[in-house]
Amino acid sequence: MRGWLNSFRAFGKLNFLILRDRAGLAQIVVEDKEEAKRLSELQPGSILRIEGKSVASKQAGLGVEVIEPKIEVEVAITTPPAVEYYKPEIPSDLDFILDHRSISLRNQKLQAVFNIQAEMVHAYRLYMHDVVDAREYFGPNIIGASSEGGAEFFNVDYFGYTATLAQSSQLYKQIMVGVNERVFALMPFFRAEPSHTPRHLAEGKQFEFEMGFFEHWHEVLDVQEGCIKAILRHLEKHCKRELEVLGSKLVLCPDDVSIPRVTFKEAQEIFFKQTGIDERAEPDLSPAAERELCKYAHENHGTDLIIVTDWKKEKRPFYSFVSEEDPELTNTFDLLCAGTEITSGGQRCHTYETMVEGIRGKGMDPENFTDYLTIFQFGMPPHGGFGMGLERLTMTFLGLKNIREASLFPSDPKRIAGNRIKARIVFGGENIRNEIVRILNQNDVEFEHREHEPTPVTSEGAAKARGIALEDGVKAIILRGKKTKKNYQFNISAHLKVDMKAVTQAVGEKCEFEDPAVIEERFGLQVGAVPPFGPLLNLETFFDEGVLQRPFSAFNCGLRTESIIMKPQDLVRLVDSQTGKFSKE
Ligand code: 4AD
Ligand code: MG
Repeated sequence: MRGWLNSFRAFGKLNFLILRDRAGLAQIVVEDKEEAKRLSELQPGSILRIEGKSVASKQAGLGVEVIEPKIEVEVAITTPPAVEYYKPEIPSDLDFILDHRSISLRNQKLQAVFNIQAEMVHAYRLYMHDVVDAREYFGPNIIGASSEGGAEFFNVDYFGYTATLAQSSQLYKQIMVGVNERVFALMPFFRAEPSHTPRHLAEGKQFEFEMGFFEHWHEVLDVQEGCIKAILRHLEKHCKRELEVLGSKLVLCPDDVSIPRVTFKEAQEIFFKQTGIDERAEPDLSPAAERELCKYAHENHGTDLIIVTDWKKEKRPFYSFVSEEDPELTNTFDLLCAGTEITSGGQRCHTYETMVEGIRGKGMDPENFTDYLTIFQFGMPPHGGFGMGLERLTMTFLGLKNIREASLFPSDPKRIAGNRIKARIVFGGENIRNEIVRILNQNDVEFEHREHEPTPVTSEGAAKARGIALEDGVKAIILRGKKTKKNYQFNISAHLKVDMKAVTQAVGEKCEFEDPAVIEERFGLQVGAVPPFGPLLNLETFFDEGVLQRPFSAFNCGLRTESIIMKPQDLVRLVDSQTGKFSKE
């Protein structure tokens, strides 16, 4: 076997080495004393090559263990990893896990999520290819105009022109219906969603589907329903081990249950009847209504999914087919799963005139859609389809709390491909000083920006260099959690000491001072120049209430030669933080 050392547990006579490879975790029994000593010096991640005898074992996870091993160390690792990924469950919060994404992905549970996700994609392809007889297409991601309308798209500089990152491959799947009649894809999407919710990402993948020539647009719903069931049956069959590792059950949707289909109007009535909350005048379903509708489906139909059809025109994109029965409604649907929308879809306009009308109706310019509009001048059949979010599907099928757990390298307003943005952008003394000054000006706050001799690290020296009373100085202290290794900022008056007991109470773990070298590397700041604007460094931030008792707050704003003096009330108001008693004499 070749693989990674996951862990080594030494008990003296019997010692257990757990080796990780693509098949999972294997147990190797090490009895040799010298060998055990050599192994105990290795850290997780070391690459090993092991030859031994396999024997049946009730205790080992796989039912097999390896004895009398000959172990060759191919790559020795001696530094412990920052994140304890080798434990069954990583004992850290999601932010910390994301901060160490490349290593945390080696954790068994995280791996199980993404193994299941890969199987979902495989099952989708099988279903679309074998059952629906659709053709896979590969659309562009850098495109000329917004594909969904609205404001949630990213522009990119494209050889001096402005291009757009595709919000979906909507236009291209419709174009491909004109070619192949039935098409599908797994396509990236990009959304400039400024909201920081547990179910929105800035980049994700969509299962795309589109078909032409139906008698009734509900045939699209039939494909959607068949597709969901096929994916679930595939996972039940092929992902037993992963589901066991996760300890989760898949959402409920047996083959012999039809996913209930209700109109938007009926959905609003159900929500009203179930909860007494009246949202019947709203043009959209609230998240609470989405949750309640799935609960309703669970209790009354024995499935966690429900389809809502016939949405109001104002809430659907320009290409939506207007209902022949009611011009205010559209032939569109959302599929809700375990409380969250996972799919939107429906029938599309298929004549040139109705499509141009749809584009104009949303205040957009048909000139930007010439390629797309051509297809309607040269024959498009009645057609429709859907876009189903891969990460939403993963999250709801497995009951994950946050969509970021269903994306290998999630992007959102705070992160790009898993990495924190703010700590990168506001990095280094000058950038941080500029950002603080910008925030103060923008909020019309009174402050003084003073240049002076470099402040020494002592609070007394700093007070003297700035020419301000010691007690008016604000010390910004960066701590490190002993358990999570997460950094926190505590801001207290310069003449006081930080009360570590109060700190432990506030953050839920024991803390120590962060190493100045780490502060310099991570934030580009010298100790003594750190400003009390922790959120700019992506730090959870706390103010000692004593700061508010003083007439002024004076602090270095990122550089040892520059300070800001302002009112403590303004400071605490502008810095997203918590206040409490964190100091002692
Ligand atoms: O509802 P959306 O915006 O619809 C479309 O893109 C249409 N072109 C679909 C169609 O065929 N008419 O996006 C479809 C799905 C959503 O239901 C959701 O699962 C996922 O894509 N999605 C997101 N997932 C995570 N974060 C975001 N910001 C998402 N935006 C869309
Ligand atoms: Mg939608």
